[in-house]
Amino acid sequence: NGLFVLVLIWSSRSRQKNEPPLDKGPIPWLGHALTFRKDAAKFLAKMKTKHGDIFTLRVAGKYVTVLLDPDSYDAVLYDSVCLDNSQCKNQLLKRIFSLQLPNIKPTTERRWMEQHFQGLSLSRLSISMNTNLQNLLLNDWKGCSPTEWREEGLFSFCYSLLFRAGYLTFFERRNDATAVYKEFRKFDDLLAKLARCSLKRDERRTVMSTQERLWELLSSNWSSEESESNSWQQSYRQFLQEEGVDAEMQNRALLLQLWTTQCNAGPASFWLLGFLLTHPKAMEAVKSEIRGLTLQDSSLQHAPINPLEGLSTPVFDSVLSETLRLSAAVLISREVVQDKILRMANGQEYHLRRGDRVCLFPFLSPQMDQDIHEEPQMFKYDRFLNEDKTEKKIFYKDGKRLKHYTLPWGAGGNVCVGKEFAVTAIKQFVFLVLTHLDLEMCDREAKLPPVNPSRYGFGIVQPDGDLKVRYRLKKTQHE
Ligand code: HEM
Repeated sequence: NGLFVLVLIWSSRSRQKNEPPLDKGPIPWLGHALTFRKDAAKFLAKMKTKHGDIFTLRVAGKYVTVLLDPDSYDAVLYDSVCLDNSQCKNQLLKRIFSLQLPNIKPTTERRWMEQHFQGLSLSRLSISMNTNLQNLLLNDWKGCSPTEWREEGLFSFCYSLLFRAGYLTFFERRNDATAVYKEFRKFDDLLAKLARCSLKRDERRTVMSTQERLWELLSSNWSSEESESNSWQQSYRQFLQEEGVDAEMQNRALLLQLWTTQCNAGPASFWLLGFLLTHPKAMEAVKSEIRGLTLQDSSLQHAPINPLEGLSTPVFDSVLSETLRLSAAVLISREVVQDKILRMANGQEYHLRRGDRVCLFPFLSPQMDQDIHEEPQMFKYDRFLNEDKTEKKIFYKDGKRLKHYTLPWGAGGNVCVGKEFAVTAIKQFVFLVLTHLDLEMCDREAKLPPVNPSRYGFGIVQPDGDLKVRYRLKKTQHE
């Protein structure tokens, strides 16, 4: 009965003057939860058509205001007084990683991350990543001949390589990276359902056992490698210890870090290579840029230590920006901790209620907004390139120049700290593949698989299915 009364109270909310349009959805309490979960991009696009750039939805008992005007995003991204990131984050950490780190201050954690992903640490990590990528890609043919074609799905080829190289880079383990990758993929495949509490019983069992297995794999060798101070994971453990985190939570936090550092670069590389393979003009433009670079610097042909430092690659950069525009779909959430007046770029003001949530979904706008990007569904490799081969940074909406014309890395205080590392890693990987391997689609007419719609909201989207490719070492590599 109590529950019923509560449901009625929740349901009785109505729109007040100065509030965004309110859409409570078809089902009491649940509201729009089911359609939102199924395909967030499709659902929010429909809501945008119905209500415009701002509206409030009921989703599983919670009221969520969705803002889709990129010109007004800064009012959310830079407000750390009325809006708070840590509540949404802590809820997800608990739900996905069974992890509680309540005593760590977000600013202390952010400072630690900046120190360990950027600056001096960044070049050390990038050099190590490059070595690991080379070893896995060029030296690890496990008994089969490198001159023979190997067939594989492009997604699993990219994800597995970048994951294993990244794992070896951050975790500096010599134990089997492949075993960790396999277990991780089982976990990652169920992650969206886990975050939305919609696992079936047998899926819950799988998640629990993969979690246990990953905690075990990540914590083994922990103490035996203690002597190797200075490593990234060593330093992370020390940080957690100083913040008073107990041993069990330290282990669980490692899985969170594994996911944060490894879940996006592999899938992004898949879309990038997939777009190149299905757009021959783009592939030729990138290869031609690489040929220019190897002429400039002959050491590139012989797998140098860090081949990309200081080299300008505007064509590749545009291809990457275009790939991320089409595939990065993070849902940026903040809890309203104090009533807030949200001032939109057009001067309109809206009252946001304390206890509600605000979400930005840059994938819909600016990234897929047809008022900003012509034919937004299409891959155009030179979309972010000026005629003089400089980076194109000027985009307009309704005649007004935009600050945020694509937003794959987020912005404000929580912008991705791993951005430079990720860009370098993807570039290293793609250049290694294109310079050292023959890579082609098994079926020349094949198309890229569609997006798995349940992944909208969780970073780089993943394909439903895969693209069959074959590859072998280029002749010049084994002469
Ligand atoms: C946060 C995107 C790769 C480390 C974020 C956020 C986005 C993002 C959008 C902000 C989320 C929010 O505001 O709620 C991406 C994309 C990547 C990528 C598109 C690859 C294509 C990486 C890599 C690392 C990394 C390789 C580490 C080496 C982090 C960390 C945060 C973060 C630690 C949390 C920052 C904070 O909470 O202050 N990422 N990321 N990311 N990213 Fe990335």
